[in-house]
Parts: sequence; C-alpha cells; structure tokens
Amino acid sequence: MIEIRNLTFAYEKDNPVLKDISFTAQDGECIGLIGANGAGKSTLMKVMLGLLDGSGSVIVDGTPVTQNTLAEIRRKLGFVLQNSDSQMFMPTVHDDMMFGLLNYGIRREEAENKVSEVLDTLHISYLKDRYNHRISGGEKRMAAIATVLAMEPSVLLMDEPTSALDPKNRRMIINTIRSLKQTRIITSHDLDMILDTCSRVILIDEGRIIKDGTAEEILKDRELLEAHSMELPLSFSRMNEHL
Ligand SMILES: Nc1ncnc2c1ncn2[C@@H]1O[C@H](COP(=O)(O)OP(=O)(O)OP(=O)(O)O)[C@@H](O)[C@H]1O
Ligand SMILES: [Mg+2]
Repeated sequence: MIEIRNLTFAYEKDNPVLKDISFTAQDGECIGLIGANGAGKSTLMKVMLGLLDGSGSVIVDGTPVTQNTLAEIRRKLGFVLQNSDSQMFMPTVHDDMMFGLLNYGIRREEAENKVSEVLDTLHISYLKDRYNHRISGGEKRMAAIATVLAMEPSVLLMDEPTSALDPKNRRMIINTIRSLKQTRIITSHDLDMILDTCSRVILIDEGRIIKDGTAEEILKDRELLEAHSMELPLSFSRMNEHL
C-alpha cells in the first residue's frame, strides 16, 4: 500500500533531517509514528505527501510520489497537519468540507449529506456554519479531521490529531480512528492514544528509524522509550506500580 525506500531529506544542505528511512505499510494497517520533538515525524509526513521533496522513494498504491503524480496522490492520501490553521482556507467549516467534495465531482446534495453525516458522527454539528477564524484551536482540529474524513481517502496521515483536544473529543477521535478501515499513519506524543489505536509502532530519533515493531512491544519498553525522550504510556506505568 505505502512503500518508503531509503528516504533522505534535508531542509539545509548537509544537514539531513530524515536519514535512510524505509518501511512498508500494509493495507488497513494503523501505524503510530513516535519520537521526541524534532525527531522528524512531521517532516516524514510532508515528504510522503509530496509537500517536501526528498531522495529515495515513496510509493502509494503503486504510484510514486512525484511532482507529476501529486493530484493522484492527494486523492488517495488524506492528511491532518500538525497546524490545522494552514489547512483551512474557506470561510466556514461547511464551505471547507464542501470544497474538497465538490472538487472531486461529487454532486452537491450528496456532498451536503456527507458533510452533515461526518459532523454528526463527531458530535460537532454545531460547528457547521461557524467561521474558521472564529473557532477555538481544538474546534479547528476537530473540523480539520472532519474535513479529511468526509473525503474518505484510502490512506490517512494524521500529525498529532488529538494534541489540542479535551478528553471527550480526544476519546471521540480515538474511537473514530479505531473504527476506520483505511491505512492510517498517526504521530502523537500521547502514547496512550497510540496504544489504543495502532497495532504497529515506528520509533524515530534524529531522522532514523530506531525500532519498528508491535505497539505492545515498543510501548512497554521503558528503557527504549526513556532513551529517546519518551515515557511509558500511563496504562503501562500504572500496571508496573501495582507489581
Ligand atoms: N522549515 C524548516 N526549516 C529548517 N529546519 C526545519 C524546518 N522544519 C523543521 N525543521 C527541523 O527538522 C527537524 C525535524 O522537525 P519535525 O518538525 O519533522 O519534527 P517532529 O518530529 O515533527 O517534532 P514535534 O514532535 O515537535 O512535532 C527538527 O530539527 C526541526 O528543527
Ligand atoms: Mg511534528
């Protein structure tokens, strides 16, 4: 489904931020991409989306990500960036969600139904006609997630989807991510969230893959996590206290 081979990327010459990254995501897999601040998670997502141009290859469903295939790639890859502000450019939440759907040639009535359905599923129908520049950070994050879900992409890349969310909305997004059948790659510092949603975890540090394995194996490894500026998820650290 997604194949990444020997990916290297540098913002500034001779200072690579991604170093020889290779992995394959299978159809329907949910992968948690974890690592300290500055490890390269967001950069990796941007290279996968073709927003940044690295060396090596990213292949989505058999199509290599290049400047010439960007339109096709965008159709397949839905994404929520770490800063959702930069993703919304229409005045209201409704208009923003409609824009992409209409652009894909979906009939207006069908698109309206889809928008209402997704907002309803996420319990944020009250945001529908609100102006994007007059809603809170967390509401914006929820709206950005709704926008990408409405498009039903075959792969979802989510960069810190729950970072600005209150516990209720965080839980809503966790349940939504769990219910999706698509291939999902999610970054988060919320390792409990990763544990709840992903079966596989890739840990990166200073632009290299340190470990690629099951969520259980990596997220239970206190030594490994601490060596890379992270801590055990709460569910595991509580378990240890009882021992
Ligand atoms: N536009 C840029 N120009 C130059 N360097 C950048 C740029 N964006 C990020 N970097 C650097 O690239 C490295 C990786 O950044 P990146 O945003 O990918 O990290 P991250 O793993 O997403 O971190 P965080 O957990 O803080 O979101 C960091 O050292 C960062 O300072
Ligand atoms: Mg980031």
